[in-house]
Amino acid sequence: MFNLILFGPPGSGKGTQSENLIKKYGLKHLSTGDILRSEIAGQTALGLEAKSFMDKGQLVPDEVVIGMISSALEANPEAAGFLFDGFPRTTAQAEALDKLLSLKKTEIAVVLALEVSEEELVKRLLNRGKTSGRSDDTSEEIVRARIVEYHAKTSAVADYYRQFDKVESIKGEGSVDEIFDALCKQIDVRMEEAI
Ligand code: AP5
Repeated sequence: MFNLILFGPPGSGKGTQSENLIKKYGLKHLSTGDILRSEIAGQTALGLEAKSFMDKGQLVPDEVVIGMISSALEANPEAAGFLFDGFPRTTAQAEALDKLLSLKKTEIAVVLALEVSEEELVKRLLNRGKTSGRSDDTSEEIVRARIVEYHAKTSAVADYYRQFDKVESIKGEGSVDEIFDALCKQIDVRMEEAI
């Protein structure tokens, strides 16, 4: 099993690159943002609780997203590996993920961290907000609140995995294809090492 985390601030291209990476490597895509948005669309109790945080650009409580990921891992016993997108977002989530994976006798192989300037992130998200229908993309205040939340709580996740030498930084500006090639190079190296 080969598991990777695509890491980076809001708007750094995690979702865009995930689509191409899962096709190439046959991984199961687990995006907590996508799962939460589908809960909101289904008007479930979990979705309604999550929406109140997401609309302010704040993180949803750890226990909610950890429970979601635990269920998703259980629901996919045949997966060749997982690509985690938007998870883990706190050190507590990272520790919980490591425990869940160790129960399955597997682990995170690599954390690929996309690096994009703050001005480019804001530009991309506000631009997407014109058409995406995502309420958290429509106001600059909420977009910037998401970036503040990233620096306050999520950037520490990279430090957590650095202690295990699992983090590779990738320039997240340039064409989608160039960034995809840089990500694939790192994945191929780690896959070779895992054989
Ligand atoms: P989530 O859905 O995870 O959103 P996010 O991290 O804010 O990320 P985005 O989807 O906005 O950006 P992305 O990095 O995927 O970039 P994308 O490829 O879309 O989370 C939303 C909310 O859910 C959170 O705020 C939180 O409330 C909650 N949540 C989710 N997970 C949670 C967790 N684990 N714990 C607690 N709460 C959680 O690209 C963005 C735009 O840029 C697109 O328009 C794209 O076309 C464009 N773009 C991509 N690449 C390029 C490029 N190379 N050049 C130019 N434009 C590009």
